[in-house]
Amino acid sequence: MSLDPPTLTYGLILLGTALYFLNWLKENVPALGPTAPLLSYWGACKFMTNCQEMLAEGHTKFGGRPFRMATFRHWQYIVSDPKLLDELRRAPDDELSFVEAVSEALELEYAMGVAAPKDMYHVPIIRTTLTRNLSHLYGGIYEEICSAFADCIPVKDEWTAVPAMATIMQVVARTSARIFVGLPLCRNQEFLDISVNHTTDVVKTGLILGVLPASLKPIVNRLINRVDRTIDRTYDLLSSTIDERRSMMEQYGDDWPDKPNDLLQWLMEAAEGAEREPRALAARLLMVDFAAIHTSSMSFTHALYHLAAYPEYIKPLREEVEGIIAEDGWSKDSLQKMRKVDSFLKECQRYEGIGSLFLERKVLKDYTFSDGTFVPKGSCVSTSKMATHDQREYYDDPCVFKPWRFSDVRDETDEGTKHQMANTSMEYLPFGVGKHACPGRFFAANELKTMMAHLVVTYDVRMEKPEEIPRMLCFGPTTSPNRTAKVLFKKRKD
Ligand code: HEM
Ligand SMILES: *[C@@H]1O[C@H](CO)[C@@H](O)[C@H](O)[C@H]1NC(C)=O
Ligand SMILES: *[C@@H]1O[C@H](CO)[C@@H](O)[C@H](O)[C@H]1NC(C)=O
Ligand SMILES: *[C@@H]1O[C@H](CO)[C@@H](O)[C@H](O)[C@H]1NC(C)=O
Ligand SMILES: *[C@@H]1O[C@H](CO)[C@@H](O)[C@H](O)[C@H]1NC(C)=O
Repeated sequence: MSLDPPTLTYGLILLGTALYFLNWLKENVPALGPTAPLLSYWGACKFMTNCQEMLAEGHTKFGGRPFRMATFRHWQYIVSDPKLLDELRRAPDDELSFVEAVSEALELEYAMGVAAPKDMYHVPIIRTTLTRNLSHLYGGIYEEICSAFADCIPVKDEWTAVPAMATIMQVVARTSARIFVGLPLCRNQEFLDISVNHTTDVVKTGLILGVLPASLKPIVNRLINRVDRTIDRTYDLLSSTIDERRSMMEQYGDDWPDKPNDLLQWLMEAAEGAEREPRALAARLLMVDFAAIHTSSMSFTHALYHLAAYPEYIKPLREEVEGIIAEDGWSKDSLQKMRKVDSFLKECQRYEGIGSLFLERKVLKDYTFSDGTFVPKGSCVSTSKMATHDQREYYDDPCVFKPWRFSDVRDETDEGTKHQMANTSMEYLPFGVGKHACPGRFFAANELKTMMAHLVVTYDVRMEKPEEIPRMLCFGPTTSPNRTAKVLFKKRKD
């Protein structure tokens, strides 16, 4: 039997309709807000402006059972039950995909151009080589943090107002660059500006493309996208370093005296095929910057606002740091002992953090959880801050900011590493959990703890108005610390 084109078309339409209704019948998750095709756009607008309130409402209204919310692109399913979270983190990548969720949210295919993630070979390098080398690299991290703070925030006897976010971004970019490409490039101002601006460029491009129909995306992208130029410029700045290293690798093979020990070198050694090209290496570094710099800066700035609004927290932190440094000096092991510093940063990430959806996954194939909850292909599924960080089952007084929450538990139970910032668990999700958990979190924790420890032994800080944390900027699920507010710094007194 052969099918003529009209029969085939009707057949496909019938099949499509049948599948649509089948899915509709399978739909068993209640929606927050209207579900009708056009009205759901109203819900999507609310999602952009009031995501946090909606999540709280959904959590209360449906009593922790799954629910869904409209966004401009898809239905966003929210699961809360620990059993479902466990399934979410274990689901195979070809069913619930982390990479596709990020790609779609940021239109990475366009917005990041050739730097879009296909081959993720940098992930195991960050997770393993970088993490294992942290003790060894610590001297450089500490030196760069001291030097960056000294350059960005003058140590004066009178109060000086400093724009918090922009300044912290510089310190973080420089510290990361020290580990990514080493001296002297990590102090090249243009290189740093690029690594900071790149993330914003990609996000802005993605947001604009996100509201356009597919047919317009490539055209508009060509007009507004700066990523190609950014990659070219990064390549210019890197090329002599790459050439030099490549000729050493040809001459000496795997090892030579003073061989650099940084991310660029590890990438050069691991890259295969087209990834070996200098321009691809430049794009890869920008991709790591994208994952590393804004996340760490936003997280630290939240903590800085807390510290400056409630300067009484400085003293216990300072005492802890000075006690440990007096005994052991600055090292990764010393940092390990700084439980209050760790707890303060960890509590900031629990209490506020930089986002309110965790474990966001794109549904690539219809997926049914063990309790029957059905999420259709094309939607996204995640859990929320409310379902985990704000729950009484997991935290006493979850709505109260308790800076020593985690160090107290550690002191009581003497479970050294279990409650530290970099450890992930089902109750603590700022770094995700499971196979896609942030591979850079050990580096991030080291960097942020060293920044906090150095800050409290060097400066006093306060806000213009006591106890006033400047308003956050909420945009969809992102919760950014205020990007313009200033913090007052001066040389520490006692
Ligand atoms: C406080 C700072 C940071 C936060 C809050 C953070 C958070 C996250 C989160 C939530 C994920 C996704 C996990 C999931 O959904 O399961 C992630 C992935 C990732 N992070 Fe981080 N991150 C931070 C710093 C860094 C740094 C410093 C680096 C690089 C050195 C980095 C590199 C990455 C990479 C490469 C991925 C993708 C992992 C994959 O594809 O499997 N992050 N991060
Ligand atoms: C540190 O990095 C080098 C590559 O430069 C690697 O060979 C070594 O295994 C790393 N150290 C550890 C402890 O993983
Ligand atoms: C980075 O962005 C800032 C602010 O938008 C701009 O003034 C600066 O020229 C940019 N720098 C580079 C190197 O792109
Ligand atoms: C992290 O925490 C989990 C439980 O929450 C624990 O089983 C695990 O051993 C901890 N990891 C480390 C390195 O302490
Ligand atoms: C950031 O803080 C400043 C000063 O505290 C305030 O004027 C501004 O409105 C805040 N920005 C946002 C987006 O809330």
